[in-house]
Amino acid sequence: MKKGLILLVVILLLISCNNDHYEPVSYSNPQVSLHIPSGFPELNSSVNANNPTQYGVELGEKLFHEKRLSADNTISCSSCHIQGNAFADNNAQSIGIQNRVGLRNVPAIQNMAFMKFYNWDGNILQLENQPLVPIITHEEMGSSILEVIGKLKADLTYKDLFRETFGDENITAERIYKSIAQYEYTLISANSKYDKVKRKEGSFTDNEAQGYQTFQQKCASCHSTALFTDQSFRNIGFPVNPDTNEAGRGRVTGIPEDYMSFRVPSLRNVEYTAPYGSFGQFLTLRAVLDYFDKGVSDADNLDPVFKNNGNRIPLTEQEKDNLILFMKTLSDREFVKK
Ligand code: HEC
Ligand code: HEC
Repeated sequence: MKKGLILLVVILLLISCNNDHYEPVSYSNPQVSLHIPSGFPELNSSVNANNPTQYGVELGEKLFHEKRLSADNTISCSSCHIQGNAFADNNAQSIGIQNRVGLRNVPAIQNMAFMKFYNWDGNILQLENQPLVPIITHEEMGSSILEVIGKLKADLTYKDLFRETFGDENITAERIYKSIAQYEYTLISANSKYDKVKRKEGSFTDNEAQGYQTFQQKCASCHSTALFTDQSFRNIGFPVNPDTNEAGRGRVTGIPEDYMSFRVPSLRNVEYTAPYGSFGQFLTLRAVLDYFDKGVSDADNLDPVFKNNGNRIPLTEQEKDNLILFMKTLSDREFVKK
């Protein structure tokens, strides 16, 4: 009798619960935890506002490879950002729809979760604000966000992915940007030979060790930290882009001190990203080092490291050989899937 009463109460409770709260079908979309490699700086604050989730990353990766983001459905993000090239490519300047040539060289996409500035001139401060740029740039994808949303809405697989990621199937600009950024936050490269040596899982050859020594003396003032960039902007007297739209960081700040200054590039995976420089001025790493040694172009705002040393970084042929061997220890085969 007592047991029957309890059962009745439980059943009544269950019914009343079901009546009180409308529970939408819930999808499990676990957060993806980003592994912060030892020695790396903190994650930037945008990551915490847009933490990668399992479906968010899946959706972002699909969008990254989606050619319908371009006006004529021929170019995806991954047409220019190729994994085998550490998400850069091998063109001097980027090539978009209808073979339109862009202003600058395609940078690698790696360790974005730790960066404070994006692009050669650092005009973007938050990764979520970046994807619109290539979508609407005439030389890249030449489309518009409304056009893109229209195309994605017509595809049922996207409806599922947006629902799994965000709880409903609404396809919005913000959701597109957020999921692409989530995918990019997961692109962490920290498993090169250099990293293994740092973790005491391997050792440099004699030449690599000598290259590392020269690097610490002559390069690490700018290519510093575990990211191999101090994220500063500098004019180091590389040959200047003849395109009159180029002014480097000066394009963003408008001050003469920043004219033709560029963000110090990370040197991780640099073996895979030739040619080098903001518009691919140098075909090889050797050519970059020969240029440093021979002497760079003068400028009023030339970086003091050069200005105070006769506009050059002197290097012997042996030092160049060893520096190149050292830079190749920054290659992460797992990251580029080679
Ligand atoms: C036509 C080639 C091209 C396409 C297509 C393209 N990009 Fe890029 N991407 C570039 C170039 C060139 C830059 C450097 C731009 C600059 O410095 O002004 C860049 C810069 C970036 C950066 C900054 C990297 C850094 O080191 O700061 C990210 C992130 C990025 N692109 C993501 C994307 C995404 C996401 C898409 C697709 C929505 C995309 N790109 C499509 C050429 C391309
Ligand atoms: C004063 C700061 C500074 C020093 C010192 C310096 N670099 Fe750089 N490096 C930069 C900047 C800034 C760029 C980008 C310049 C540009 O494209 O106009 C760059 C570009 C490069 C590139 C081309 C990378 C790419 O992806 O295009 C390589 C390779 C490179 N540096 C290697 C070295 C090596 C090796 C040394 C030491 C011998 C060195 N750098 C010393 C600031 C510096």
